[in-house]
Amino acid sequence: MASETLRVLIPEDRLQARIRELGRQIRQDYGDAPITCIGVLKGSFIFMADLVRAIGGDIRCEFLGVSSYHGGTRSTGVVRITEDLNNPIEGQHCLIIEDIVDTGLTLDYLLRTLEVRGPSSIKVCALLDKAPRREVDVKADYVGFSIPDEFVVGFGLDLGERFRNLPHVAVYTP
Ligand code: IMP
Repeated sequence: MASETLRVLIPEDRLQARIRELGRQIRQDYGDAPITCIGVLKGSFIFMADLVRAIGGDIRCEFLGVSSYHGGTRSTGVVRITEDLNNPIEGQHCLIIEDIVDTGLTLDYLLRTLEVRGPSSIKVCALLDKAPRREVDVKADYVGFSIPDEFVVGFGLDLGERFRNLPHVAVYTP
């Protein structure tokens, strides 16, 4: 694949500075309350690792596996849980941690799935927001960066499992 290109969209230092800001903001909003952070696998794992340290205080980490893409650059629109939470979330303040909100179908499905489990509150923190592509009316409470309608990789985001380990976010052109 000699012709594919990667162009840096958000460099590492901007990502880290923004994550520190988000962490401060989130901790300020929740006060001393314990927060159950729910990372949506696999894309959020790097963002979550940095974000939970930036939030600080009493944090529990849970993970949920979902699949909406099948190795391509467009969502299939069919969301499925591939790995469920290991623990109940009833009575807890939950923060869903997403890599990116694109059509919003994944987030809409997750919110509906988790709300019925009785959390005290449920909010969403997304590193990236591709608002022009939204198909359902969902919004993250905390957003790192709004980005244009381009396919991005790096910092946890992949294309067919590649590029997750890039320290920055890059636009992928086939
Ligand atoms: P949505 O359901 O369309 O909002 O898509 C959400 C999921 O699609 C994200 O959690 C990502 O895993 C994936 N996704 C959406 N846009 C991109 C992208 O530009 N690069 C990599 N993955 C993406």
